[in-house]
Amino acid sequence: MAIRRICKYGEKILRKKTRKVDFKSMKGKLEFIINDMFDTLQITNGIGLSANQVGLDLRLTVIKLKDEKEKETKFVLINPEIIEKSQTTIKGQEGCLSFPGLYAVVKRSEKIKVKALNEKGLPVEINALGMLSRVLQHEVDHLNGVLFIDKLPLLTRMRLKPVLFKLKKQWAKMDETKTAEYKKVDKLIS
Ligand code: CO
Repeated sequence: MAIRRICKYGEKILRKKTRKVDFKSMKGKLEFIINDMFDTLQITNGIGLSANQVGLDLRLTVIKLKDEKEKETKFVLINPEIIEKSQTTIKGQEGCLSFPGLYAVVKRSEKIKVKALNEKGLPVEINALGMLSRVLQHEVDHLNGVLFIDKLPLLTRMRLKPVLFKLKKQWAKMDETKTAEYKKVDKLIS
């Protein structure tokens, strides 16, 4: 199990449009990266994580969603692309592992269709609705260097500016790999 440090708001790689993954040449490495990304999601209680959030310039996202019955579904999306978007939009609360503790209501397309490669390098198409649709749009944005705060109305963004300025300093010091160590210690004590 390997936890990777998550890049926080203010770190340059979050603003970079990520590089397309050449599946064949990266196959072996990808398996390790994907496993680490799921481990990192687990420890941080996250739903979605994109490779540039762990400092890697790759078009790769992992998602772990629970349905109403607590059944877990994992998605690995390599080079994902949104190929269809519904005109109808829906508002919903979002957070982001690169902005710990910050939540905002974001307007997104209700339904989307995404094409990508899965962890085996096979092409997949996903018709997404609800939470999955929202998470996918959030993650594809990450891969294009777009963050959820960019989606907020201008006034909200202006009000957020001084808040972000303060939080940025705290976030820069956060390190999930160390938090994971604490968790291990907790377990030992109890
Ligand atoms: Co995010």
